[in-house]
Amino acid sequence: MRRPILAGNWKMNLTIAEATDFVRSIRRGLNEIKDVDRVLCPPYTALATVGELVSATEIEVGAQNMYWEEKGAYTGEIAPSMLKELCQYVILGHSERRAYFGETDEGVNRKIKAALAQGLKPIVCVGETEDQYDAGETEAVVSSQLRGGLTDLSAAQVAGLVIAYEPVWAIGTGKAATPAGAGAVIGMHIRGTISELYDESTAQAVRVQYGGSVKPSNVAEFMSHPDIDGALVGGASLKPDFVELVRIASEVASQIA
Ligand code: 13P
Repeated sequence: MRRPILAGNWKMNLTIAEATDFVRSIRRGLNEIKDVDRVLCPPYTALATVGELVSATEIEVGAQNMYWEEKGAYTGEIAPSMLKELCQYVILGHSERRAYFGETDEGVNRKIKAALAQGLKPIVCVGETEDQYDAGETEAVVSSQLRGGLTDLSAAQVAGLVIAYEPVWAIGTGKAATPAGAGAVIGMHIRGTISELYDESTAQAVRVQYGGSVKPSNVAEFMSHPDIDGALVGGASLKPDFVELVRIASEVASQIA
């Protein structure tokens, strides 16, 4: 059984003061929800504050990016060991980083290895753009992102990853994928690629989230799909009803189990 994981990617939102108010308003409700991992991913600047605010709860914290080197002359970058003091998870290869900051599969691969070396749990993002979707390239794109991103990782390392399938056309658009469509990409192409690269048990062990316009009103459909193990939530994770979203996800998951 794969334990569901719901993560909120705050992106570049919330100051320390805003994060403090928001986390105080959701932490009790979020902590009461059982049987799913709950992760908040604030900007670097709020990681320490959010970590302290949830320290007495089961809520975990993640960063949104990281560099692969441990130290040195890399102005503006953050090392894995620095994050290790602040959080448990790190989002890597988000499509916004690929699109705006030139991240490549090779860079994502280096980051995954560096995160694992520090005991951080990577949430590795893959997904096709709208043009690629229209051209029928989803399988090819997702498969090559995985092959590049997972290069030289062991089966045990891959089994411990969280992968987020986030079609770029569904992010921040209100136009979510269909659960059947996302589930097919995850089941056939993502688990399929991992099964080819490793074996079927690794493909069945890895947790795969869906991300892209997930909200309280559609999360149940995604969670009902047997290949979808949770959600990476952007905009809806900045609202108080993120608690409701996670509660619905947990209830659907427990009904299926
Ligand atoms: P939205 O939920 O705002 O569509 O963002 C999804 C996302 O990019 C999460 O990483």
